[in-house]
Amino acid sequence: MRVYFDNAATTAMDDRVIAAMLPFMKEHYGNPSSVHSHGREVRTAIERSRKKVAELLNATPAEIFFTSGGTEADNTAIVCGIQTHGIQHAITSPLEHHAVLHTLEECAKKGMVKLSLLEVNDQGDINLDHLQDLLRANPKSLVSVMHANNEIGNINDLTAIGNLAREYDAFFHSDTVQTMGHYVHDLKNLPVDAIVAGGHKFHGPKGSGFLYVKKDKKITPFIYGGAQERNMRGGTENVIGIIGIAKALEIAYEDMDGHRKHVEDIKSRFIEKLKADIPGVEFNGLSAEMDKSLYTVLNVSLPPSEENGGMLLFNLDLHGISASGGSACSSGATVGSHVLRAIGAKADRDSVRFSFSRFNTVEEVDYTVEKLKELYGVIA
Ligand SMILES: Cc1ncc(COP(=O)(O)O)c(C=O)c1O
Repeated sequence: MRVYFDNAATTAMDDRVIAAMLPFMKEHYGNPSSVHSHGREVRTAIERSRKKVAELLNATPAEIFFTSGGTEADNTAIVCGIQTHGIQHAITSPLEHHAVLHTLEECAKKGMVKLSLLEVNDQGDINLDHLQDLLRANPKSLVSVMHANNEIGNINDLTAIGNLAREYDAFFHSDTVQTMGHYVHDLKNLPVDAIVAGGHKFHGPKGSGFLYVKKDKKITPFIYGGAQERNMRGGTENVIGIIGIAKALEIAYEDMDGHRKHVEDIKSRFIEKLKADIPGVEFNGLSAEMDKSLYTVLNVSLPPSEENGGMLLFNLDLHGISASGGSACSSGATVGSHVLRAIGAKADRDSVRFSFSRFNTVEEVDYTVEKLKELYGVIA
């Protein structure tokens, strides 16, 4: 059996997404900037995709900019948010994805901002009193806090954080890569200035993404060149990526509750079976709390073991099970996780992130727990 439990790293594409993209690899190959009919038909399709994304998120098309993925969208929001709004102080958490952390560290190194890191506890909860203290001392900051953590699954309260940011006139960017396509984002009612998406996290194509920027918080471009994306991102558009990400988001919204129910059943069965069958099992962050973590992510901490120490992902792989030890976006996924370090996870235990999609089955959970039992010498 081969089991793919690494959906927080990337997901399989939906056949309907591929079908929507194919005509734009074959017959509709015009450059969307060309004024002739070959170009115009592609331009129309891009704008239809933008309108679809905007409708689903309760935003306006003028607020959506297509990018090469979540990383570029994060970079754009942060770097250009800082530059456009004359921001001198930034606040983030040590649990952010490197797309945010490394970008802000670079901004601090270049002297663009002073950077403050929020306090987090050993569950990965962010200290909102600390956020308020930092904002009080540094109004007009940039606040960048992710919606949900890609490693431990913790979901942050964007409304509470956004309201604080508003109170102190801060620019609030949230990395929503792990929640886009899995949760509803109602941007008329969510107090955020910029959020992002990567299409490959919800059954769309890799190398596709978008950035939402609230219309009264406009920013300058990150990539200069032609007039594409209304002068916000030069370069001929990744047409198939744009068609694909919009289709993937449309499919995600069509039956979000159904998908969620399916994946939640998988995750809760996994938790129950692990608790019942693997003595000493623990869970990192809030990932075992169904209402406080992504339904797609379960971060398991396994007891110290001579056979598996440092080899657990390899041993699972030998049984055909693909999972991850940290953020899979950094290639060589077994390098230590900055997130687990920041929440003080015990170094002698092995941590493994299982992450799910609607294409997974409960049989795959049962198979994986059986293999874990074998690996940990649990006698049936
Ligand atoms: C939370 C988070 N932010 C950003 C990214 C980067 O997204 P992309 O791969 O689309 O550049 C990832 C990818 O794992 C992620 O999990």
